[in-house]
Amino acid sequence: MTDHDPAPVTVLGLGPMGRALAGALLAAGHPTTVWNRTADRADRLVERGARRATTVEEAVRASPLVLACVVDYAAVRAIVEPAAAALNGRTLVNLTADTPQRARELADWAARHGVDYLDGAIMTPAPTIGGPAALVLYSGPERTWQAHRATLAHLGGDAEWLGADPARAAGHDVALLDVFWTAMSGIAHAFALARAEKIRATDLAPYARGIGNLLPDLIDDLARRLDADDHVADVSSIASAAAGMAHIIEAAEGHGIDAGVLRAAHAAAGRAIRAGHGDDDFSRVARIYEQAAA
Ligand SMILES: NC(=O)c1ccc[n+]([C@@H]2O[C@H](COP(=O)([O-])OP(=O)(O)OC[C@H]3O[C@@H](n4cnc5c(N)ncnc54)[C@H](OP(=O)(O)O)[C@@H]3O)[C@@H](O)[C@H]2O)c1
Repeated sequence: MTDHDPAPVTVLGLGPMGRALAGALLAAGHPTTVWNRTADRADRLVERGARRATTVEEAVRASPLVLACVVDYAAVRAIVEPAAAALNGRTLVNLTADTPQRARELADWAARHGVDYLDGAIMTPAPTIGGPAALVLYSGPERTWQAHRATLAHLGGDAEWLGADPARAAGHDVALLDVFWTAMSGIAHAFALARAEKIRATDLAPYARGIGNLLPDLIDDLARRLDADDHVADVSSIASAAAGMAHIIEAAEGHGIDAGVLRAAHAAAGRAIRAGHGDDDFSRVARIYEQAAA
């Protein structure tokens, strides 16, 4: 092997995402060892040149860099803890999604066992991996990031290091998936409400896209307001927003459609109003959520 040969990499976990990660590494020429609890999920990768390990320990010993991507951190721990001795002195990059607290706990476990640890959050779907549209966020020691960033770049698109705190990638992940899933719930609910009003989903869709197009500027405005703690309304107030939400809840429940998601949003706006912030911009609601968390 010369200095320029791609480094060996092991991938633990071959769901849709693990298979995409291993496929991107193979495409970039990395000697790639794979392991999965259900072994036959490796078949296509083996046809493409991957080496199938029969045990986690064998997989870990094959490479200085080990990627893990399974359903949650409990599964990661079930896989890596029995192989702690083999992982000692190697780097584990955990690309599984879970909570920031579990990321901290796994980083602590890794430190106790002499394992260099990076936590990663994959923000784009499996088909993007290896291509320019991929976005993977990393956090953990800078030295570990620098040692492996060239290899991790082969997972595609933008690979960004967010800092030494191992929980920072997972913190971004849960916040960004909060945007995604509350938006998706709102979209699904809106279609149900429209269909109850005999409006075809495909007729509503162009207007729903128009609402979506308003959001990027609102995201920037809310972020600026929160960092400046400036909630003086210049377009619309929380009181006005709450009145609008109440109409949607009434219309949905009039059709027997559960309005729980919007009821929760309406309750937060109500707490802001009762605290004397009814004339403020909607950004104030984020501060109300923060108070509840404190
Ligand atoms: N798919 C995507 O587009 C996407 C996008 C962004 C992020 N992610 C994240 O990537 C991670 C993996 O997602 P995925 O789509 O590949 O599929 P997944 O359904 O979340 O995970 C499947 C993998 O987890 C393994 N697994 C589950 N329980 C296990 C256990 N107790 N012990 C050992 N292995 C276990 C499965 O093994 P078996 O095959 O043996 O069941 C399989 O390898 C998740 O955290 C997900 O949120 C996925």
